[in-house]
Amino acid sequence: MDSLIVNSGRRLTGETAVQGSKNSSLPILAATVLVGGVCQIHNCPELTDTKAAIAILRHLGCKVKTGNNTVTVDSSTVSCYNIPDSLMREMRSSIVFLGSILGRTGKAELSAPGGCEIGLRPIDLHLSSLKVMGYKIEEDYGYIRCEKAKDNSSSVISLSFPSVGATENIILAAALSKGRTIIHNAAREPEIYDLVAFLNECGCKISFRMQGTVIIEGVKKLHGCRYSVMADRIVALTYMTGAAITGGDISLNGINTNHFRTVLPVFESAGCRIEDRKSFLRIRADKPLRAVRDIRTMPYPGFPTDAQAPIMAMLTVAQGTSVIIENIFESRFKHVSDLVRMGAKIKIEGKIALIDGVKELYGTTVTASDLRGGAALVVAGLAAKGSTVIGNVSHIDRGYEKIEESFKNLGADIKRVKH
Ligand code: EPZ
Repeated sequence: MDSLIVNSGRRLTGETAVQGSKNSSLPILAATVLVGGVCQIHNCPELTDTKAAIAILRHLGCKVKTGNNTVTVDSSTVSCYNIPDSLMREMRSSIVFLGSILGRTGKAELSAPGGCEIGLRPIDLHLSSLKVMGYKIEEDYGYIRCEKAKDNSSSVISLSFPSVGATENIILAAALSKGRTIIHNAAREPEIYDLVAFLNECGCKISFRMQGTVIIEGVKKLHGCRYSVMADRIVALTYMTGAAITGGDISLNGINTNHFRTVLPVFESAGCRIEDRKSFLRIRADKPLRAVRDIRTMPYPGFPTDAQAPIMAMLTVAQGTSVIIENIFESRFKHVSDLVRMGAKIKIEGKIALIDGVKELYGTTVTASDLRGGAALVVAGLAAKGSTVIGNVSHIDRGYEKIEESFKNLGADIKRVKH
């Protein structure tokens, strides 16, 4: 397991592009299974999660070529409909292949994805929605078997929670269906729009209505296309927290600030200056950070749960008491114990985190417990006195492409030690 060594004392400065979005590239890679032709996916980040998705594509019979952040998938040779346990275990979000395998073959067999470090991650909304669409679902001994039992001319699904994964699976299963599928209370994350833009580029007929309604008119056939994945909004926000905690001045290009508009006021309340030019953003932190009292994670367009950990790291050295409420995942505070080890003063009461800002953190050895929690430790290490050694970097590599190089390009003193 690699580790990262982060030394403090450097302000983050300079300009950088932001990698392609993990949470957009994964459903788009899964969606190529529907196409039955050749798709070129550009700006696809090289991550352990995208590598796991490519392994599943190859297992299903697709021909896949990769290089220079472009993944070329020929899914004309899809030959099976199951995903073995070993591949499912590689990446929990492999569940997004369920919808595309069903859409292409009419049946699917895969092991239940199970929970992860941040919560139980149930898939009841995925399965109940597929039943409404006419699929027979069997679950036993941790395996899920689905098969199309009847062709509905139209299905109407109302999600009790705007689940991102359930919305993606419904769209993927409905894209090639015979009828019309309507989703009410669908997730509205930008990654959903990116997936739909890719699918419509391949010949799908998917549209959005007000208040989270999505209409999918099933089509008979799709064709290949070239598509470029959107920039990763959470990686952009992570760089911003690094600039904020080091009193830095960085600019990000190739982004869409609409994708994280509700987080910008948090940085401004903390005392940062933001220059927002939609595809370009500059953040300057030229005075001590101030606490922010009312951060609550919500489904999009609310404050994103994936930004909770890096923002918390930034607020550990803000003057005053910050309050973060984590409403989405039931155990997404695993990074707190390591931040406290670094000298942070944080109290957890249920889903509420109270962060009393301290003058300074100090470097020590810590361990990444999950993807965004690990990134939060890097952010804290940038400002902690002395050296911070972060173990279990594989968690971070799931979602950040060469994180040490990205931060080094912005002036950080950080290196990876391979074990
Ligand atoms: C996606 O996960 C993202 N992952 C997560 O990013 C992100 O945190 C999450 O959406 C919320 O934005 C990918 O896109 C690969 P959900 P997903 O279904 O689809 C409950 C990261 O760090 N729920 O919207 O699993 C669930 O328990 C990762 O990049 C049900 O109860 O999120 C959770 O409390 C972490 N039943 C809430 O909904 C279901 O059937 C949000 O889950 C499905 C979900």
